[in-house]
Amino acid sequence: MSESIPLAKPELGSREEELVLEVLRSGRLSLGPMGERFERAFTEWLGVEDAVAVSSGTTGLHLGARALGWGPGDEVLTSPFSFVASANCLLYEGAQPVFCDVDPLTLNLDPEAAAGAVGERSAGILPVHIFGYPAAMPELEALAAKHDLGLLEDACEALGAVDSEGRKVGSRGHLATFAFYANKQMTTGEGGMVVPADAAVAARLRSERNQGRAADLGWLDHGALGFNYRLSDLAAALGVAQVEKLTEMLSARERVAGMYAERLARVECLEAPPAARGAERRSWFVYPVRLGEGTDRDATIARLAERGVASKAYLPCIHLFPHLRELGYREGQFPVAEAASAHSLALPFFPSLSEAQVDRVCQELAAALGQGPIRE
Ligand SMILES: Cc1ncc(COP(=O)(O)O)c(C=O)c1O
Repeated sequence: MSESIPLAKPELGSREEELVLEVLRSGRLSLGPMGERFERAFTEWLGVEDAVAVSSGTTGLHLGARALGWGPGDEVLTSPFSFVASANCLLYEGAQPVFCDVDPLTLNLDPEAAAGAVGERSAGILPVHIFGYPAAMPELEALAAKHDLGLLEDACEALGAVDSEGRKVGSRGHLATFAFYANKQMTTGEGGMVVPADAAVAARLRSERNQGRAADLGWLDHGALGFNYRLSDLAAALGVAQVEKLTEMLSARERVAGMYAERLARVECLEAPPAARGAERRSWFVYPVRLGEGTDRDATIARLAERGVASKAYLPCIHLFPHLRELGYREGQFPVAEAASAHSLALPFFPSLSEAQVDRVCQELAAALGQGPIRE
């Protein structure tokens, strides 16, 4: 059988090795200069004032929820079509996620649905830029301003995306979080970054990620409740190397998405993910295709696996996980999200995916769907 094609693959090279070695030889494995260097490089790339490195996207979201003061009795409007961490970060603090359905095209929180769900206990909005498609930030910002709600952007899948006003996701001046797990647009193995809303929030994030230590306190002095959410300098070294080639890696992802779109246009009963509209720019994170209603998605995944092509059901709706059902959520509440969830699957997607590999994935997919070969 031909070589199997994985779902994701990080781009790691000699620059990553060089910088990791630099940290190893320095003996400064945590809270050293590489961490600061990574924060500076990221800040510059995104065009923001500051950014705080943390141990994961999840821990970044948790600190973001705390910085906004969300807690027991507070409700936060968010998307059910997301990775579970965007709701869990609220539960950690005793706040309640209030799910609202998503827009059928972008699969992001629908601002109208969110407006309809605002209630007396609403304290915030947590939009997720799902699959790298920018959420409707101007509309959600207006809604937040109207009702005096805090905003925390889950940009974990959207580094490099640009919104409808031409602004990079995460640069609009409120809290935003990014994630660097190995399948992301850039990776540190595990890791995340929080863009703070202002200098006071930045100081709080830096203290809370570091056991509540204040900048001027000693190692065993803790000024407030904190966590160990630090990013190691080894991970930061990967981050510095990855930021250096981030623009290039994003272009490569866009190229791969283009190759898929061209071929999949000739496959029936399948919808490719939408390209962005107007000033928007999608940051290609995964390549999720949507199968027709009558197609057995799980059987398609199994058939692809038999042919050496990895794929994955993407994404399960988070309101249907057991710990969210305990809050009363059920099937049928968010039909747009649930339909997307039931019929989508992610195909292999990474910057070094070759044209021949994309060809093979598409041909195998057509065959798995019972269709003949895709012709020129
Ligand atoms: C939308 C979204 N939110 C949050 C996270 C959490 O990031 P991490 O896995 O780094 O904790 C992810 C990562 O998979 C994600 O895709």
